[in-house]
Amino acid sequence: MITAQIQTAAYLFAAILFILSLGGLSSQESAKRGVFYGIIGMAIAIISTVFGGDVHGQVYIIVAIAIASLIGITVARKVEMTSMPQLVAILHSFVGLAAVLVGFGSYLDPKTQSLIGSEHTIHLIEVVLGVFIGAVTFTGSIIAWGKLEGKITAKALAYKGRHLVNIILLLISIYLGVLFAAAPGTEGLIYLLVIAGISAFIGVMLVMAIGGADMPVVISMLNSYSGWAAAAAGFMLGNNLLIITGALVGSSGAILSIIMCEAMNRSFLSVIFGGFGNGPKGEATAMVGEVTSTSHQEVADLLKDANNVVIVPGYGMAVAKAQYPVHDLVEILQKQGKVVRFGIHPVAGRLPGHMNVLLAEANVPYDIVMEMDEINTDMTKTDVVMVIGANDIVNPGAEEDKSSPIYGMPVIQVWNAKKVIVMKRSMAVGYAGVENPLFYKENADMLYGDAKESVDKINTLLKS
Ligand code: TAP
Repeated sequence: MITAQIQTAAYLFAAILFILSLGGLSSQESAKRGVFYGIIGMAIAIISTVFGGDVHGQVYIIVAIAIASLIGITVARKVEMTSMPQLVAILHSFVGLAAVLVGFGSYLDPKTQSLIGSEHTIHLIEVVLGVFIGAVTFTGSIIAWGKLEGKITAKALAYKGRHLVNIILLLISIYLGVLFAAAPGTEGLIYLLVIAGISAFIGVMLVMAIGGADMPVVISMLNSYSGWAAAAAGFMLGNNLLIITGALVGSSGAILSIIMCEAMNRSFLSVIFGGFGNGPKGEATAMVGEVTSTSHQEVADLLKDANNVVIVPGYGMAVAKAQYPVHDLVEILQKQGKVVRFGIHPVAGRLPGHMNVLLAEANVPYDIVMEMDEINTDMTKTDVVMVIGANDIVNPGAEEDKSSPIYGMPVIQVWNAKKVIVMKRSMAVGYAGVENPLFYKENADMLYGDAKESVDKINTLLKS
């Protein structure tokens, strides 16, 4: 058994590792190291908690961990990179559910029943907060999973007066929380159950009201909520490491949400409260111009003549797993003396850093991977932009069309380059469900087909 002193030291060490882990994740070069620190920290946290002096029934815990690990490993191995956000969303829901269950368990625990005075009141406040945040996270994450998986419409289902309804529900929960705290023994259980029900409903309403275009922020926001839910569980269980870990996840998730809101020109509060100012602001603008298509041979010829090439990848590159031939394409062009760079939009794909992860996986050097602002300033000097499986992130409507649901979101201004090649399978819309005027621009040509097959063909033509 681990003594209390050793446990405290282990918790401190694990907390430092978690902080180093977050630090490591801030850049691609150090990300692997960051993940490694996180794994070691979590192993130390679990071992020192399970074998801590006040824990009994270790056998059951170890069996539960073994079964859960098996399920986790199987699911994580099987999941496609494109389904990662759904996996993350459903994992957040587990954290929420865990906080709710800990809340009920902790309330009914005979040990906490013996608490008196302010200690008892503080404990009850922790229980209510934990159950409330946990239930919002639980149902909100399930709705986010459903939206990402396409089981629920990605459109914002927002009705008038929903903010008022949410505020009234919040006030009712606070009132019930007061009744709960005043109830003797475990008689407050019924209030706690009603609070759990109301907060579960609020979670559904908050995320249902958020449109597809704002989903990236919702995912990082739910990540933040799950952190606060874990911190609340830490308070209820009196576990300092869980409080620290929850606070780290909660605050880093909140910071990420703010960064993403800035990247998408959305107000943070509007996203938290469920789609304030959401929805189209008038009739959709009709597309002007003609859509022209091109062939693989024409694209290969165009690339042979170009000096400066920019590749803008999007979700379609992930679907097609085109990152590997894209890496080969870069090598071929570089060997021919051309300057090739990538332009990465902060919400390209379906999860933060999605494109960076794919490009790193295919060994694309980091120094040619530029952020949106860096690449936008160079667009006019670019001969050819290859848009590979991207759509919303290169939509000029975000700058020009006030009726567009993504109006105001900064985009990669590919249309400022001399020539734009858009590689996708059809004229279908992207995640936000909006038409793209880029396809109708004079300097843009569509190259229809699966991104991987197209890049493979272009590579063969360039080599020949
Ligand atoms: P999208 O706008 O979703 O467009 C992707 C395009 O890829 C589609 O129009 C599709 O057109 C094409 N595509 C699909 N499979 C393909 C294949 N095998 N080969 C070639 N093309 C293929 O993607 P984006 O431009 O990356 O923008 C991201 C969107 O997702 C934004 O609206 C963003 O807000 C949202 N979102 C982002 C995140 C994060 S955190 N990144 C999370 C959730 C949502 P075809 O069907 O015609 O091929």
